[in-house]
Amino acid sequence: MIQVAVFGYGTVGSGVVEVIEKNKNEIGKKAGDEIRIKYILDLKEFPDDPYKDKIVKDVELILNDPEVDIICETMGGLEPAYTFSKRALMSGKSVCTSNKELVAAHGPKLLKIAKDNKCNYLFEASVGGGIPIIRPLNYSLTAERIQAVTGILNGTTNYILTKMDKDGAGFEEVLREAQEKGYAERNPAADVEGYDACRKIAILSSLMIGKNVKYEEIYTEGITKITAEDFKYAALLGKSIKLLAQSRETDKGYVAMVAPFMIDKEHPLYSVTGVYNAIFIQSNMLGNSMYYGRGAGKLPTASAVVSDIVDCARHIGKTITCIWEQEDVKLADVKESSRRFFVRVGEGSEETVKELFGNREFLRVIEGEFGFVTDEMTEKEFERKAEALSDLITRIRMEA
Ligand code: HSE
Repeated sequence: MIQVAVFGYGTVGSGVVEVIEKNKNEIGKKAGDEIRIKYILDLKEFPDDPYKDKIVKDVELILNDPEVDIICETMGGLEPAYTFSKRALMSGKSVCTSNKELVAAHGPKLLKIAKDNKCNYLFEASVGGGIPIIRPLNYSLTAERIQAVTGILNGTTNYILTKMDKDGAGFEEVLREAQEKGYAERNPAADVEGYDACRKIAILSSLMIGKNVKYEEIYTEGITKITAEDFKYAALLGKSIKLLAQSRETDKGYVAMVAPFMIDKEHPLYSVTGVYNAIFIQSNMLGNSMYYGRGAGKLPTASAVVSDIVDCARHIGKTITCIWEQEDVKLADVKESSRRFFVRVGEGSEETVKELFGNREFLRVIEGEFGFVTDEMTEKEFERKAEALSDLITRIRMEA
């Protein structure tokens, strides 16, 4: 029997207990042994909970119990999750987590501690919720040189942008509605400012490169400036607007960023709508591959955590190889990366636009302004030209 302790009995933690209970037979067979929850750590009271006998408040009880093989860390946040995970790994207990904040901040350190103590630190649920993406990167695409990882990694913003696209509504209105329905947090900054997607692409980029990509160094722009008018132009161009998180190998090094992009109907990520997530990978032997599914929610996320528990159970006393060194990657400057830009400017700027950007097709859907698409150029060059446009309304990057 493999005994598990769940740290944090919130949405994902209670989902883990539910998945283990509901799929007990399948999970036991796949793990090669019965998986049993021994403890649930949480400071809150759960008087009516069917598992109330397992709930404890003292972490020492769990960390000092030699019968506990695996910790499932679904607390979220940096502390005390970091200290608890470190101590568990140091005593040879494997840790499975959905905590992207912690993985992005301390992933390689925790992986090293796990290796030194012949156990595992697994984090499938930290990116893309229930979508298998960490395991494909770590196990399946090992014959590949990965050239680019592009993801829709945040369900809240994808839901908001999809609604804006379909209903022609404004950002604030859709955000309010999403909050009422419980799809968006009361404090939505982590999602709408792109911080959540930034941590997730930091994790994927680190696995893509094999070294540490610091999330603080990833250029991050959210969706708060996207308007209903932008979608009118996107529709005219046969495109939509998505918050993309991307890491790409270029001749100047790796460029990583999170920003809203216009993407074409033909792009595989175009049809990823609502709360769904997807990760599109371009690699040199397989070519394009995409991983799609529910990127959040109790049971999808819990399912990914439990898949890690099964992996730990299959590897008791052995560490699964994960190439994510502690050495930091020096990312290339986003300003040096090249792309096309969609631009909106006030009526009367036609001549200046022609001088700066050459002959462009002018798109007219809103009175008093027009839009156009530039040729491919570096961000730096675009910024320089845009400074000369006195009545620039907005610009959105285009994904090739
Ligand atoms: N707030 C996140 C999202 C939850 O909207 O995708 C999953 O990490």
